[in-house]
Amino acid sequence: MAFPPSFLSELKSRCDIETIISTYVRLKRAGANSVGNCPFHSEKTPSFTVFRNTQNFYCFGCGAGGDVITFVMRMENLDYLSAVEKLCNMAGMAMPENTYAGTAKKVDRKRIFELNKKAARYFYDALLKPENAHALKYITDRGLTPRTIKHFGIGYADTSFDSLSGYLKSQGYSDEELKEAFLCGINKYNKPFDMFRGRIMFPIIDVSGEVVAFGGRIIGDGMPKYLNSSDTPVFNKRRNLYALNYAKATTDSSLILCEGYMDVVALHQAGFYNAVATLGTAITPEQARVMARYANKIYICYDSDAAGRKATDKAIALLSEAGLSVKVITVKNAKDPDEYIKKFGKASFSSLINGSEGRIEFKFRTLMGNYNLDVPEEKLDFVNKSCEMLCDVYSPVELDVFLMKLSELTGVDITILRNEVNKRRKKREKDENRKEIEQQIQKSMGYGDKINPDRQKFTACASIEENIIGILMLRSDFIKDEEIQKNLNADMFMCEFNRQVFQRLSQIAAESDSNEIDIGQLGQYFNPEQMGAIMRMQVNRSGYSNNSPEVLNELIQRLADQNLKNNATETDLMDYLQKLKEKKK
Ligand code: UTP
Ligand code: MN
Repeated sequence: MAFPPSFLSELKSRCDIETIISTYVRLKRAGANSVGNCPFHSEKTPSFTVFRNTQNFYCFGCGAGGDVITFVMRMENLDYLSAVEKLCNMAGMAMPENTYAGTAKKVDRKRIFELNKKAARYFYDALLKPENAHALKYITDRGLTPRTIKHFGIGYADTSFDSLSGYLKSQGYSDEELKEAFLCGINKYNKPFDMFRGRIMFPIIDVSGEVVAFGGRIIGDGMPKYLNSSDTPVFNKRRNLYALNYAKATTDSSLILCEGYMDVVALHQAGFYNAVATLGTAITPEQARVMARYANKIYICYDSDAAGRKATDKAIALLSEAGLSVKVITVKNAKDPDEYIKKFGKASFSSLINGSEGRIEFKFRTLMGNYNLDVPEEKLDFVNKSCEMLCDVYSPVELDVFLMKLSELTGVDITILRNEVNKRRKKREKDENRKEIEQQIQKSMGYGDKINPDRQKFTACASIEENIIGILMLRSDFIKDEEIQKNLNADMFMCEFNRQVFQRLSQIAAESDSNEIDIGQLGQYFNPEQMGAIMRMQVNRSGYSNNSPEVLNELIQRLADQNLKNNATETDLMDYLQKLKEKKK
């Protein structure tokens, strides 16, 4: 299934990696490279690097790496073919013919998008049918205007088991496709049945404007209150946010994060166009990083009950980890923002935004609510918990303000409190350092290396092999060098993974008529995690000033010596076992 090298290089010259990555990550130029916060793990200081010269990327924090195709694969959760297809569309290029020949049939994402759009249209039309007047009444009674209903494409799934599936099948979609899109289930007679019945339907639209999933609310009481699409080939609920397709266009770089579909719809109707919501789950690190692409500041506006406060704590932690500044809006005398707007109007909600608390203020206040400070034990507990929390406050001015407040509230001397915070902070740093050192040791011994599990057995070889591959990637002309070809062959690699990388590199070099080889070609044979490990070999080696043939030959010699050693121990063991056997006889 390999693509012709000329096709891939044409595609990649049209899809400049920095331009493509910039649509997902805020990049800053730093010399020959560009850097930003990694979209694949949460961090506050940038270790994600785009190498403009080689058109590759690598994250020094989490080890993700590869070329523009690997990037799109990871970012959009696509297989290799679909990522190439997406880039082709962006570049206005046609896919080479026969691309799919010989590959396992993949789901056609384009058809699922179409299918979803048709379903959304179908639900919307149904909401306006006279026989479904009760559904329209339910949603207008909840205060939504026809304009809002249209804007969000809100619809109705009737109570029948086969109306949507009948319609979509008449449009040429297969049972399998209906099931893949989570619009239908398959019953025991192998017939599809409509998944959403008797529900108000909220289409979920991704940032490119495609309908990717649905949330359906039961009319009146019933279980479950909301039914949401499971993950499908076009939908991952951990990465999407409701209404982000609209909110991303608002100019101020803040978002309001709510719990529910109805909260978002009500806020947009009231003119707060930057409201979004998670999709039936607690907020995930992925969603926090998605938000960081579009905003600097997040106003959390969750339900006012205890569950909402707890969820706020979790959101504060994840959003801060993603480098976002966090404010908390607390709705009073209403259970959620939807109800608040309905009761008190939009001007009131604006003043809630203006009076929103910082994250520490919020935590401090909610913590305080749990204690009766007149009881000495409770006071002590409160002081301890507060000091623990204040360890996170790194701005000295901010810290002082809270220490002062804590001192006022508890009557404990501010110097004592400050010492307490410092003491805890030191202990925390020590613990973290120790943990990091332990992890480093484990790593250097090869424990937990899923990509190259042989590292544990062949630690020394693994490192030599990686240095060799690193040099070959930087200087692919060496691969065809006669002297090197004579001394180095695939059998010398003790680690299976490294051996495969070497074999593929040799194959790509042999097939290419130039001396330059594009490591992106490796993406056809290795998954994105493996690509990260391969990029690491190159990046590590590019830190050395000398990557000459002499250095390479010396590494090859060392690998050969290691081979001898390993063989020797193996033979000794065989001899020993043989002798044991003879003895038994
Ligand atoms: P809520 O129960 O707070 O509902 O759940 P809501 O948004 O206020 O909705 P209304 O006003 O009663 O219609 C908040 C969110 O949690 C998810 C949904 O995303 C919902 O919007 N949820 C809730 C589910 O996914 N399933 C459920 O059964 C309930
Ligand atoms: Mn509600």
